[in-house]
Amino acid sequence: AEIVIVRDEQEAGGLIADAIVALITGKPDAVLGLATGSTPLATYRALAERIGERRIDVRGVRGFALDEYVGLPAGHPESYRAVITREVVEPLGLTPELVRVPNGDPTGIEHAGRDYEAAITAAGGVDLQILGIGRTGHIGFNEPGSSLASLTRVKTLTAPTRADNARFFDSPDDVPMHCITQGIGTILRARHLVLLAFGEAKAPAVAAAVEGPVSASQPGSAIQLHPHATVVVDEAAASRLE
Ligand code: F6R
Repeated sequence: AEIVIVRDEQEAGGLIADAIVALITGKPDAVLGLATGSTPLATYRALAERIGERRIDVRGVRGFALDEYVGLPAGHPESYRAVITREVVEPLGLTPELVRVPNGDPTGIEHAGRDYEAAITAAGGVDLQILGIGRTGHIGFNEPGSSLASLTRVKTLTAPTRADNARFFDSPDDVPMHCITQGIGTILRARHLVLLAFGEAKAPAVAAAVEGPVSASQPGSAIQLHPHATVVVDEAAASRLE
């Protein structure tokens, strides 16, 4: 992977937003792969600014979120559908119908993974996939042990990931037990991967992803299998790199 070390999240956000603007300018119906969580927020903000200032037409831009919780009530403010609407679709001015999130409704969940894969394929695949990484090394919600060939499916969240995400809920017990996530195989089909990480807590996962052996026990290491992966990190997240 290409490693870019930046001063802070704002610099990272600006760089990635510039790359996305270039993509959209050349391909007005570009397909973006969207991560949730805290890491990409500066990117989404920088992108919204550029779109507004330069009056970029984004009405044709399509998007696919990485993952969703299973079993939250429809419209729950911390569902990734709600987060993607609030942090991405609205500020960027995307067309809501063109931005998909895996369906975490337990009714019909057995088809949801297959349907999502079919929708990504029908869209012609993801052009640029934004990725965060969990302390456990997960990308999407592919926790350690996930097959490197996996496709979108239901998974169980690990205890550390539920603890990390408890900050978004009233009580740690409110964090769902299950999620539906693009697989590692799904993620690897995107044409460009951009993995972002900031802060000391991510340093071991970044080192394992970039320099460790490619292994299902460190899902982030799958990026080493990809011909076009960019890793954008601050000094703290880069601190365990050789
Ligand atoms: C989010 C996702 C996760 C997060 C990861 C890091 O859609 O798939 O892999 O990217 O948990 O989360 P933050 O950015 O909140 O540290």
